[in-house]
Amino acid sequence: MYIDGVDKSWLETDLFSHHFKVKDASHIEKLKRLGIKHVVIDTVKGRDLPKDKGITRDVSAGKDNKESAAAAPAKPAESTIIKPAEPKVDLYTPEEMKRYCETIDSFSQIEKEALIKGSFINFSIFLKKHLNIAMLTEYKNKDIEITDDILSTDGELLIDRNDTHKYTRYIKDLIFSKILDSDVNVKHLKGLLIRENSKLIVRELFDDPRSGETIHKTRGSVEEIVGSIQDNKQITTSLLTINKHDYYTYTHSVNVCVLSIGLAIALEMFNEKEINNIGIGSLLHDIGKSAIPIEILNKPTLLTEKEFSIMKQHVTFGKKILSFHDAMPKDAYHPILEHHERLTGDGYPSSLTGQELHTSGKIAAIVDTYDALTTARPYKDALSSFESLSMIKGQVNNYDSEIVKKFILMLGSIR
Ligand SMILES: [Fe+2]
Repeated sequence: MYIDGVDKSWLETDLFSHHFKVKDASHIEKLKRLGIKHVVIDTVKGRDLPKDKGITRDVSAGKDNKESAAAAPAKPAESTIIKPAEPKVDLYTPEEMKRYCETIDSFSQIEKEALIKGSFINFSIFLKKHLNIAMLTEYKNKDIEITDDILSTDGELLIDRNDTHKYTRYIKDLIFSKILDSDVNVKHLKGLLIRENSKLIVRELFDDPRSGETIHKTRGSVEEIVGSIQDNKQITTSLLTINKHDYYTYTHSVNVCVLSIGLAIALEMFNEKEINNIGIGSLLHDIGKSAIPIEILNKPTLLTEKEFSIMKQHVTFGKKILSFHDAMPKDAYHPILEHHERLTGDGYPSSLTGQELHTSGKIAAIVDTYDALTTARPYKDALSSFESLSMIKGQVNNYDSEIVKKFILMLGSIR
């Protein structure tokens, strides 16, 4: 069989490529050792599954059975309906939640993979575990060396949001330094830098949604993302935040933007200008959340019905924000206004049906759901990419099945 993708990102495995022919059992053993449970196969380049067998297999479950060890779905089966685990409730006291809601916005999440052993930083790092945030290493006017101790820490790394420019400067310096050992690292860091700069712009816009200057910056940022993906599709993995331990609107916005652009390119039905506009709209799809009270926006437990009805207003708030910006291309409105609509008319805010939705709105709906499902929250674990796609594919009436198919193929091709 020819493997054309696995259920782990390229960054999470030491496989040279995620596209190869399975020649013998040792290949399968290696996949198991890497924790890979599902693979995508290309039935043109290799053998298909036996017709009489189910199409969902688990490589870790196959023991010595060659068929079940090697076989996996080319796409998630419709019979593979995965339901989210029951959310954990009553996890935190009201005081803990209040403190978290009020403080989390003063931090920025950073990537452990951007910190290179032996390099030096000029900012403090904090460690977040559940709702607790504590100083990991403090900058006191003396550069801090990145050591194994810092890199092996368990938990999410944060920095003071005022230090974000120091962090992006650090990445820029790394790109031009000799400390990196390969071309791959440089390419990855360049993608990561574009990602961090885009996050900064979304954050600026959340602070001041009326700023025409910041809206203008989104155009440049999106053009950079589109250009990078067109140059090299594999950079998509560097532009995305893959291990999402908690939900951050800025991280989510950039992920939805990158995936929407990738999907728009894969669909081969938009010109360059339209792809850029889809990128702008998807980067700003949740801009209306800037008007949602922080105790609801940052709440680390499930929202009550009343809170959820307030949260849902972010789409109409987004529409209002758009009205401040005459220069905003009209095409960019669709992802903002339609990302919570569903083909059945069961979405919000306008209960639009499939025929009324723009293709870019349908793209945003799929990508937004996918990124939310693959993100952990304090009250729920993240689903794997495979589980999330299976869940979306199972909702055949809600999401455009042709676009979902393309999305699955696109994700398989960037791993
Ligand atoms: Fe939203």
